[in-house]
Amino acid sequence: MVNTVSFERLLRETTYRSGESITYNKTYIHILTLRSVVYIRAVDISKTFGTRKILDGASINVNKGEIVLIEGPSGIGKSTFLHILAGIDTPDSGKVIVEGTDIFALNEDRRAKFRLEKMGIIFQQMNLIDDLTVEENIALPLKLAGKKWKERVDELVRYLKIEEVRHAMPASLSGGELQRCAIARALANEPDILIADEPTSNLDNENTQNIGALFKKINKEMKVTLIIATHDPRIEFIGTKKYLLREGRLHER
Ligand SMILES: Nc1ncnc2c1ncn2[C@@H]1O[C@H](COP(=O)(O)OP(=O)(O)O)[C@@H](O)[C@H]1O
Ligand SMILES: [Mg+2]
Repeated sequence: MVNTVSFERLLRETTYRSGESITYNKTYIHILTLRSVVYIRAVDISKTFGTRKILDGASINVNKGEIVLIEGPSGIGKSTFLHILAGIDTPDSGKVIVEGTDIFALNEDRRAKFRLEKMGIIFQQMNLIDDLTVEENIALPLKLAGKKWKERVDELVRYLKIEEVRHAMPASLSGGELQRCAIARALANEPDILIADEPTSNLDNENTQNIGALFKKINKEMKVTLIIATHDPRIEFIGTKKYLLREGRLHER
């Protein structure tokens, strides 16, 4: 007999592929389904802009706790895919299922609420609001969710080492500080999933190393699942799973 509790833990903490066999407590187990470990699933996503089919059946499986990298050259469709994964843009066809919820089956309001509670997003252009201070930018998602913000912002500026620029305007920040501010804002509502779009594209080597290490730390300490689009070989080392986006599809490698 398989001890159910430990077996569940085994499944949670380790990644198996459907169809794979494992031996546990001298019991031969054939993995039939990934349901217990797959956390985010995109199935056959397609998206056309004008006459250009950017995504053509892109699928991905993300397990809880992973750091998944989506790689591919500029213009290939990485941002488009991330926006669909986050429910900001809609696909022409295909599904995104997050912890059992089909996000495009929700209406726009419920999808926005779902995103606000579950996901933190760091956009390619960071999208900080220029006429709000760092503190006000970070507090914004908390205010939108109707939560108290002061203590959480205290915690985040400390964690991300941006206390000194807390009351500054984004325009006066360095690239590294701006990126940490964007990360703080994305973490404000304690998301389970953090999505980052080319987070190191404008950073020098030192800041890139720091952001890479920071993502690993966030993944470990805050138990956040990360999905990162990048074509930066300098942060490849943080990925636990890598996909290459090519011809509209995601290829695991
Ligand atoms: N809203 C849009 N309308 C028309 N074309 C778009 C739109 N968004 C992206 N594209 C085009 O789709 C292609 C893929 O873009 P993008 O997803 O930003 O690629 P990546 O992030 O890999 O650089 C690009 O050619 C881009 O110009
Ligand atoms: Mg992009």
